[in-house]
Amino acid sequence: MRVEPTIVIASVLGALAALAACATVAVPVGDAVAGARVYAECAGCHGTNAQGTVNGQVPALAGQHASVIAKQLGDYREGERWDARMESIMAEHRFADDAQIANVAAYLSGLPATPAGGGSGEGGERGAGVYGKACASCHGARGEGNGARVIPRLAGQQYMYLRRQLHDAVDGRRPNFPPDHVALLSPLEADDIDGLAEYLAELSP
Ligand code: HEC
Ligand code: HEC
Repeated sequence: MRVEPTIVIASVLGALAALAACATVAVPVGDAVAGARVYAECAGCHGTNAQGTVNGQVPALAGQHASVIAKQLGDYREGERWDARMESIMAEHRFADDAQIANVAAYLSGLPATPAGGGSGEGGERGAGVYGKACASCHGARGEGNGARVIPRLAGQQYMYLRRQLHDAVDGRRPNFPPDHVALLSPLEADDIDGLAEYLAELSP
């Protein structure tokens, strides 16, 4: 049987692409232009620039790693992270398609993030100390996270949202938090959590 050269080349390229994907992490690359259209449905809560809200209800998404956004959306869809608003959005038929998730994640990860700020202005130094010892090894020296390891960017996130997530994780209200992460946070005092949130909210992403 004669094999067409174009077919051989296509399969070699396919194998190389698969290898490259394995070497990093298997996150489908989304189409940011299509993602911007999807985001129109999210902007009413997350904000025109995906900056979130200062009351801590809605997180900033601008500049978050695409892999993190995709993972969290999948978790809401599968009921592994609880929030009535996000669960109802993800339950809608169109998000059964992973391409939609990849597209909106690609769009959001490309938006510029700005530091949210907030907090009393007194806890940042304490927060920086705890962060350097217990968190920087994963979330990065500047809170930049790590897309390949699916570790969220925390720099510039809303202060009240960060506080709430840290308390929710310790109190068992965020089931997708890894148990060893909860164990790391559990011994922290309320002032440590305030300080961490304040320090991180003010970091430039
Ligand atoms: C009705 C308001 C509302 C709408 C609309 C909405 N969200 Fe959310 N979103 C929230 C709230 C509230 C949270 C925080 C929930 C929690 O505490 O777990 C959230 C959390 C998230 C998170 C987790 C962020 C993180 O840092 O872990 C992602 C990702 C997200 N939303 C993406 C989207 C996308 C994409 C859309 C549009 C398809 C969307 N949201 C539409 C309210 C909304
Ligand atoms: C071993 C690596 C590791 C360490 C150390 C670590 N984290 Fe995390 N963190 C993660 C991962 C992975 C996630 C995503 C969990 C998930 O999938 O929901 C996360 C999620 C978070 C979130 C939720 C972000 C969001 O957008 O909702 C916060 C807040 C957070 N970590 C704060 C901290 C703080 C504060 C420390 C230090 C006290 C810390 N982490 C230490 C790996 C780590």
